[in-house]
Amino acid sequence: MAHLLVTGGAGFIGSNFVHHALERTDHTVTVLDKLTYAGNPASLAGLPADRFELATGDICDRGLVDALVSRADAVVHFAAESHNDNSLNDPEPFVRTNLVGTFSLLEAVRAHDVRYHHISTDEVYGDLELDDPERFTPERPYNPSSPYSSSKAGSDLLVRAWVRSFGVRATISNCSNNYGPRQHVEKFIPRQITNIIDGIRPKLYGTGLNVRDWIHVDDHNAAVLRILEAGRIGQTYLIGADGELDNRTVIEKILVAMGRDAGDYEHVNDRPGHDMRYAIDATRLRAELGWEPVYRDFDAGLTATIDWYRANEDWWRPQKAAVEASCAARGQ
Ligand code: NAD
Ligand code: TYD
Repeated sequence: MAHLLVTGGAGFIGSNFVHHALERTDHTVTVLDKLTYAGNPASLAGLPADRFELATGDICDRGLVDALVSRADAVVHFAAESHNDNSLNDPEPFVRTNLVGTFSLLEAVRAHDVRYHHISTDEVYGDLELDDPERFTPERPYNPSSPYSSSKAGSDLLVRAWVRSFGVRATISNCSNNYGPRQHVEKFIPRQITNIIDGIRPKLYGTGLNVRDWIHVDDHNAAVLRILEAGRIGQTYLIGADGELDNRTVIEKILVAMGRDAGDYEHVNDRPGHDMRYAIDATRLRAELGWEPVYRDFDAGLTATIDWYRANEDWWRPQKAAVEASCAARGQ
């Protein structure tokens, strides 16, 4: 049994991680979360009070972070500003939370010699052409495109430096695009599902030929638990489930699953600097740690996700109007 400090545990992947970890291990968990627009305490409702607590605060707060890290056996760092479109509107919080916040955690785990796992994204590698036979591997040079992905790339490099220079016991994982319950409605799949519920046509950026490598959030989190248990210190693991699909196909699948015509969507302004394709080669994770995805049927996972948004309107409704207003201001 261990005590985990989970940063960003009120967000999409972090909250699913907390549910997953409490169900599958006997660990106890403290979540540190600033409860920004993306953090929702309702995502943590119903967890056992004797094994879970929520500390509301900022990962950039060195004193708070030091105190929480000092009583943890391991830190799992999910907290971030996470949305590319927001990073194009205002990069400042991305630099602050993703870089300065990671620095603050690294200094605390260094001081207290606490095991650290760093959650990152495949977007640090930049993008691939549609016809490129290669996929991302851990050896690929970093080449991020956006303020979001460059701030995540910078945070990964801080971790690598703290491992090498200070002997911090850290691992890093870079995962592809996640889907599943409790994802903020600003993101692609929940935005389209909730648009259809609201009678708004789904919105496809540009041509919609851009490819994302989809993985169910529980498969991501199972891999994170496995890395915490058995990952090699200093190692980077890429997490992906061979789920490449272009955006147009995903929108058509959502429409059909919700009983609508597959062509009933509209093209809107493209995202500046829009990455064309991400694709993960997860060989190291599979071969070294024996991880395999469980959610191999994207259509079934998508249907379950649609059902979750239909059943949990109270969870997402308060965020919807602000997201649509900010998209409309960009012609999206
Ligand atoms: P999210 O935006 O849903 O959640 C982020 C959480 O961090 C929120 O609860 C927010 O309140 C909290 N937070 C933000 N700034 C904070 C601060 N300064 N101090 C404390 N808490 C703060 O994000 P997500 O989609 O769950 O992503 C989680 C992590 O996974 C991020 O590091 C992201 O880069 C990474 N990631 C995401 C995806 C994806 O598809 N969503 C894929 C790969 C990697
Ligand atoms: P997003 O969920 O923002 O994730 P990321 O930028 O990290 O990949 O977007 C996923 C893809 O969907 C990306 O190619 C942009 C596209 N997209 C749309 O076509 N329409 C939308 O309304 C949104 C939010 C995204």
